Amino acid sequence: MKIHNISEQNSILNTFISEIRDVDIQKDRMRFRRNIERIGEILGYELSKALSFGSSQIKTPLGSSSIDLIANDVVLCSILRAGIPLHNGLLNYFDSAENAFISAYRHHSENSDDFEIIVEYLACPDLKNKTLILADPMLATGQSMVTAFEALKPYGTPKEVHLVSAIGAQEGLEYVEKHFGKDVHLWIAAIDENLNEKGYIVPGLGDAGDLSFGEKLQH
Ligand code: URA
Repeated sequence: MKIHNISEQNSILNTFISEIRDVDIQKDRMRFRRNIERIGEILGYELSKALSFGSSQIKTPLGSSSIDLIANDVVLCSILRAGIPLHNGLLNYFDSAENAFISAYRHHSENSDDFEIIVEYLACPDLKNKTLILADPMLATGQSMVTAFEALKPYGTPKEVHLVSAIGAQEGLEYVEKHFGKDVHLWIAAIDENLNEKGYIVPGLGDAGDLSFGEKLQH
């Protein structure tokens, strides 16, 4: 797997990462969603440099201009619900992408921090020969990303696969790396060292779904 940690180089991306982490600023739900969206836009821009381009001729009012344009058929896939703002950010740039959605949640066995990922809903176009961009804002254990990818298999074999995350834990990256081939790219805004006993990234930012959309009842 080719890992692209975009914050290795200082840029405006650092501002957005700092704001989603900041315990005070992240309380502003609209700002949190928008910052995740902005991170999606930046990661989408970086990812676009690895796509295929074909030359195109554009007619202007004064003449003709040649330019290389993206030739890939992109499918954006996100995991509900935390993935929605990151998905929006990617979709802001990949205007004509097709879209896939998966609902997945952590199912805890009684009185235990252990969990399995349950997929309940999946809507996906044909993936054959497409460029699949699979987005998950928090790459914690990596299980959601791998479970989602496995669930997409009946929809066809993509030509290429890009994973996109805002924040990842080293452990999650290693898990994902074992499951995806060498040709798969991971575009990530920040990498943290640890996971706590509940599978949350430390220092991370907390629960991305709750911060975006409000707390949910556990059942
Ligand atoms: N999901 C989150 O929202 N946060 C984490 O730290 C891990 C998974």
